[in-house]
Amino acid sequence: MSRRTLIAGNWKMHTTGAEAQKLAGDILSSCKNIHDRDVLLAPPFTALAAASEKLGDSPVILAGQNVCWEEQGAFTGEISPLMLKDQGATAAIVGHSERRQIFGESDEMINNRLVGGLKHGLMIVLCIGETLSEREGGQTFTVLEKQVREGLARVSAEDMARVVIAYEPVWAIGTGKTATTEQAQEAHGFIRKLIEELYEKGVAEQLRILYGGSVKPANVDDLMSQPDIDGALVGGAALDGESFGRIINYQ
Ligand code: PGA
Repeated sequence: MSRRTLIAGNWKMHTTGAEAQKLAGDILSSCKNIHDRDVLLAPPFTALAAASEKLGDSPVILAGQNVCWEEQGAFTGEISPLMLKDQGATAAIVGHSERRQIFGESDEMINNRLVGGLKHGLMIVLCIGETLSEREGGQTFTVLEKQVREGLARVSAEDMARVVIAYEPVWAIGTGKTATTEQAQEAHGFIRKLIEELYEKGVAEQLRILYGGSVKPANVDDLMSQPDIDGALVGGAALDGESFGRIINYQ
């Protein structure tokens, strides 16, 4: 079964409104003639409206970098699904390793975010991935299984159509160290098999699994040649219109 590729750019804590407009415009020109793959951009919350204005009615998907499970209330520093939609976003990333590692988000909290976002019709990119010490300790698959099982708790097979999983080994994020294509394919194959066990074959076959961690123009073609790699979640290289354009146009 062929899955539609998704190339996602996570801008992290970068770009003012004006910079976001410029970058969104550059990226838009790079994907003008592409119709066989999806592109998603996740600017910081404060630049969503500016990016949305630039993207207009283009098919580029706009996403928040996180989302709260509540619609409103006393949750200082958080953003609700309704607020994201109000800014033009139709998707959200949850469980990014920086949220897990730096801000201490648990699988339970990430699951609440995911379920809350789905409830409001958002598409959700659930990030998972092992640290270097977990990989070296032979814990990779145990860690991935826990993050998948707990992250997807209470999610129906039907709602899985709006879920994307991003496998991002923590040791490869922002370090210049990419997982080898074999390591990435092995993890992606494991995740797909696990989804088949948790749901059914059809759900596993339609699920898009992105690879993230130092994806750049030089390694994207190899990564994308793997059968279970359905796209990329890009950080550093997504901040440069030309590099990201090249990644979108992978061969
Ligand atoms: P990187 O970040 O491409 O800079 O390694 C990826 C990510 O954090 O999603």
